[in-house]
Amino acid sequence: MNSQDYIKKEEKYGAHNYHPLPVVLERGEGTFVWDVEGNKYYDFLSAYSAINQGHCHPEIIKALTEQSQKLTLTSRAFYNSVLGDYEEYITKYFGYDKVLPMNTGAEADETALKLCRKWAYKKKGIEDNKARIIVCENNFHGRTITIVSMSTDPDARKDYGPFTPGFITIPYNDPGALEKALEDPDVAGFLVEPIQGEAGVYVPDDGYLKKAYEMCRAKNVLFIADEVQTGIARTGKLLACDHEGVRPDILILGKALSGGVYPVSAVLADDDIMLVIKPGEHGSTFGGNPVAGRVAMAALEVIKNEKLAERAEYLGKIFRDEFRGIKSEMIELVRGKGLLNAVVIRPKGGKTAWDVCVAMKENGVIAKPTHGHIIRFAPPLIISEEQLREAMNLIKETFKQFE
Ligand SMILES: Cc1ncc(COP(=O)(O)O)c(C=O)c1O
Repeated sequence: MNSQDYIKKEEKYGAHNYHPLPVVLERGEGTFVWDVEGNKYYDFLSAYSAINQGHCHPEIIKALTEQSQKLTLTSRAFYNSVLGDYEEYITKYFGYDKVLPMNTGAEADETALKLCRKWAYKKKGIEDNKARIIVCENNFHGRTITIVSMSTDPDARKDYGPFTPGFITIPYNDPGALEKALEDPDVAGFLVEPIQGEAGVYVPDDGYLKKAYEMCRAKNVLFIADEVQTGIARTGKLLACDHEGVRPDILILGKALSGGVYPVSAVLADDDIMLVIKPGEHGSTFGGNPVAGRVAMAALEVIKNEKLAERAEYLGKIFRDEFRGIKSEMIELVRGKGLLNAVVIRPKGGKTAWDVCVAMKENGVIAKPTHGHIIRFAPPLIISEEQLREAMNLIKETFKQFE
């Protein structure tokens, strides 16, 4: 079978809920992936920042294979011999009392929302069913009904109503709007992405997160950070909140928590918040399974041992400098932090961000447009400086083709 055969098969048997770039990948190693014809590409998406540690990192694969030959799943009806170690490891790693393990980012977000509401009733003293959570315009937290209820993206919401109530939407990066919304005494939490990834890598003003955190604290409102995309060293610090010295009351992690080999997500909080959830009140069959625990510990070890936050910080600066040096009418703006970056594309002669991505693919670099006119660039953090510069040359060649 060639690429076209695989694409046709997906078209025929799979739901049409994605519009992939026409490349069929078969193998990955480190920074690179190969298609079914054997062509090699720089991966500049990293599965939406899930592959921060690089494809098939040997230490993570070792953890996966060893544990999967021993014990894969017990459910939480029984204890298992890995979960306690993992819980100790991850809570010490991020500095929280407790973790609640889940699988996907969306589930972790849902967990954080439930935790926040329950805290509102049990601790803050908000009247039953009155708790409200502040969210930001253009957020992306996943795809469940409640999460799309918080979304302002018509594609995410259209025809999926009725929606879950209890949210107040404010503009992102607007402390004044937050201050006003916080006047409502029924507000229990503020859920925010430290950088809005899916929206197109919107980096807020310096000081925004700190200010927002302090405003929440003053009103006894939980500051909930969705670091599913920005966390795990992607932006040049372990967490994007670390850039401003903010410690979220509830921290949501996913994606690269497993190095992309397995769905692992987590919600972290201290006892006074986490212990409001009692046995039987929330859970997941797969959450906290032994494979997930081993894989996540290995993935977090790689982040630390290979100093991936420092690498992301250093290489991110090179990426933005190089990109800003490209002379092309199609490049409107380059923004980002660490190795989470985006380029806003100005269409030219009918050619759009999609055409740029297709041409980049032909030249050996794969990335994907978001919202039609923005290309996100997020290579694995293990990329070497030499590889980054080589990939930048391929990207430069691509833009030249459009001049
Ligand atoms: C900030 C953020 N939260 C949550 C999610 C949802 O994660 P998942 O696709 O694993 O449900 C994403 C996915 O892109 C994300 O970027």
